[in-house]
Amino acid sequence: MTVLLTGAAGFIGMHVAEILLARGERVVGIDNLNSYYDPALKHARLKTLEGRNGFTFEELEIADDAAVTGLTERYPDIDRVVHLAAQAGVRYSIDHPGDYVRSNLVGHANMLEFVRGLMDRPAGCRSFVYASSSSVYGANREMPFSTGQKTDSPVSFYGATKKANELLSYSYAHLYRVPSTGLRFFTVYGPWGRPDMSPWLFTSAILEGRPIRVFNNGDMMRDFTYIDDIAKGVVAAMDHPPSGEDGACPHMVYNLGNNTPVKLLDYIRVIEEACGVPAIMDMQPMQPGDVYATYADIDPAAQDLGYAPSTPIGVGIPKFVEWYKRYHGV
Ligand SMILES: NC(=O)c1ccc[n+]([C@@H]2O[C@H](COP(=O)([O-])OP(=O)(O)OC[C@H]3O[C@@H](n4cnc5c(N)ncnc54)[C@H](O)[C@@H]3O)[C@@H](O)[C@H]2O)c1
Repeated sequence: MTVLLTGAAGFIGMHVAEILLARGERVVGIDNLNSYYDPALKHARLKTLEGRNGFTFEELEIADDAAVTGLTERYPDIDRVVHLAAQAGVRYSIDHPGDYVRSNLVGHANMLEFVRGLMDRPAGCRSFVYASSSSVYGANREMPFSTGQKTDSPVSFYGATKKANELLSYSYAHLYRVPSTGLRFFTVYGPWGRPDMSPWLFTSAILEGRPIRVFNNGDMMRDFTYIDDIAKGVVAAMDHPPSGEDGACPHMVYNLGNNTPVKLLDYIRVIEEACGVPAIMDMQPMQPGDVYATYADIDPAAQDLGYAPSTPIGVGIPKFVEWYKRYHGV
């Protein structure tokens, strides 16, 4: 049987594909390879996957419903779906809401229709895992963020689309019994990471002697989560779909974070050490859509999925910086 993986050329998607392929799964990866950030990085990630046993890639737009439906005919063996394709980024959503509507709302709805179609087939859909985000917590003050808290007040359009994903998915799980799991990721970092995120932005600026923009004057905390921990969590979620026993809706949402928030300035210090160069800091006020702190309660994910993040930033950041230098030939 086969796993359909959307966003396969993306940061998290690539690492999830690696785990699945290593254990002998067949993976159909799709991605539209858009230019939100340099598509060369997406092609380079794909290069590490292509040619490996069990991997097939198609450039495909998930907002195109006919293209998504067509996958069923070409890959009749798909019985699990890991849906990571989305327009990511909190700040970008302020000026580009249309991209989020297309990928995160229309695209997500198309993926739900796709899994509903699978349910009508003999193999069904054994598991539908999709990416949500810590952004759904918006300006919640109660820490740690737990999935029992209300998430009705997103402070970014990105967060609103991720919350919408959870609601749309719940309704499909309820109506069509699709076993579905939403994962709220907390600031993921590591090798092959995204150029729009702070580990990349800070590392490139520090190595090139440019100032780094430090928001809210550095008074922020983030639950940075290393990519290997996250990718294992995604696969564990795929392997442990909600049972929907006793008529319960087969839909679960989990936090995948690190449960150890780090002060922004401490985190910058770790990057400086890994780069071997001090940072020039340009202190800035808080940005619209940003939140002061993120901190995940991961007990339910630990209990149900065996999720156990084990990489502190002191280990993960040097691995990222080492990869960054190699990738750029520094
Ligand atoms: N990285 C994080 O810290 C983080 C945090 C919270 C949530 N998430 C979510 O996790 C998922 C993966 O994030 P990532 O960091 O790997 O981002 P990413 O941008 O590297 O990967 C997403 C991939 O999806 C593809 N894509 C986007 N729109 C598409 C469309 N309409 N059709 C087909 N492909 C499309 C992109 O080309 C990209 O390769 C996303 O849903 C993101 O919102 C990530």
